[in-house]
Amino acid sequence: MSSQNLQPIQGMSDITTPEIFWWQKVESDARHLLSLYGFEEVRTPVVEYTAVFERSLGDTTDVVQKEMYTFMDRGGRSLSLRPEGTAGVMRFLAGLGPEAAGKRVYYIGPMFRCERPQAGRKRQFHQLGVEALGAANAGADAEMIALQVHLLNQWGLENSTVNINTRGTPEDRQAVSRGLAEALTPQRDQLCEDCKRRFDTNILRVLDCKNEACGKIVDGIPPVTAFMSEASRQYLEQVRRFLKLLNIPVCMNPRLVRGLDYYVHTVWEITHGALGAQNAIAGGGRYQMEMDGRVIEGVGFAFGLERVIASLQQGKPSGPERSVAPLVWLVSLGDKAMEENLVLAQALRQRGVRCELELNKGSMKSQMRAANRAGAAQAVIRGDQELEKGLFVLKNMSDGSQKEVDLPALMNELVRGVVAIEPAK
Ligand code: HAM
Repeated sequence: MSSQNLQPIQGMSDITTPEIFWWQKVESDARHLLSLYGFEEVRTPVVEYTAVFERSLGDTTDVVQKEMYTFMDRGGRSLSLRPEGTAGVMRFLAGLGPEAAGKRVYYIGPMFRCERPQAGRKRQFHQLGVEALGAANAGADAEMIALQVHLLNQWGLENSTVNINTRGTPEDRQAVSRGLAEALTPQRDQLCEDCKRRFDTNILRVLDCKNEACGKIVDGIPPVTAFMSEASRQYLEQVRRFLKLLNIPVCMNPRLVRGLDYYVHTVWEITHGALGAQNAIAGGGRYQMEMDGRVIEGVGFAFGLERVIASLQQGKPSGPERSVAPLVWLVSLGDKAMEENLVLAQALRQRGVRCELELNKGSMKSQMRAANRAGAAQAVIRGDQELEKGLFVLKNMSDGSQKEVDLPALMNELVRGVVAIEPAK
């Protein structure tokens, strides 16, 4: 294998220490908090029938048209790696039938989009997503945003902004498209090439075009809510009122539309100041999608975990606080001692002691060097003499002092060390 073949595929990463400590913290904080809000974890497959995504995300969306990893399997079925989590989770919940009513679920896992890789944009990335089934309800939308802000606080992530807007109802869609077309027609020729195409296929997407000239044109037309029904505007006002009640500051962004077609009513995105062009750490909204002839309604969001972790790392490059048990290193002088230490290591670990030992033959010096490198707090040294006497040399690695102890004293000392670091109840 050439060294190039030892690299992961472009846009995909191996995630390991020390960064993995952030992943572990973010995931365990989230699991704890989500259980307080009544969410259960679900793990759906990373591969689904392509139709699951095409139908729910919308076949004119960038994700479906350009970004899915799609392939035929050996049975001639079109399958895709999931580009996001909502569609697969809705497929699962729809399969539960009436039992799914009111379900609240979350998922953590890899998603795949074949986009041009750049800082903050990967081909395999991870989402922490949350979905709550239920008909349109402004309180439920506000609760979701509040949960997201709670998660940000729990992680210690400051400097983020919640941008919100509305997509209105499916019944508003025609009036919105017509209104936007009328407002944009006088400047249609000045739009970028992509937006000229979007004008006919999905005019709403002209609103969030990143091109500066398109942005100026859009800023000059009425906000999208101007073309919606009074009921849709009221719904958004309700969401904002609930958020105020919950003390969650949000920014109204009339250009926010989100890139997936399943959204109705409230949509939002959370951005973070420390990131560059790809500054959206999360996106969410209320949605409706058809699954096997039934309309499923719900509200949810997904954080992009790479971006969350990049933002956390900027604030604290040293990594998250961690409490790990002190390490004990078992040093074996001779084959018999190694055999006995293997058994001792197992007994210690079963009592919660973190311990390691060298299983290849090594000198005392090389084993002590390894213990130091690993940051061991204590070493237990055994050779033929100690085995004969049934004793252990216990060495304190920070001050170099050592003493001979028997098995009960050794266990007492090492297991007590573990009890001492257990968090207070
Ligand atoms: P999304 O906005 O497409 O929404 O993705 C959510 C988050 O995933 C983004 O805000 C971003 O942080 C991260 N993300 C997306 N693409 C990439 C990429 N190529 N590289 C790194 N991070 C990325 C959804 O996926 C919806 N399913 C969210 C949702 C759940 N709406 C309702 N329920």
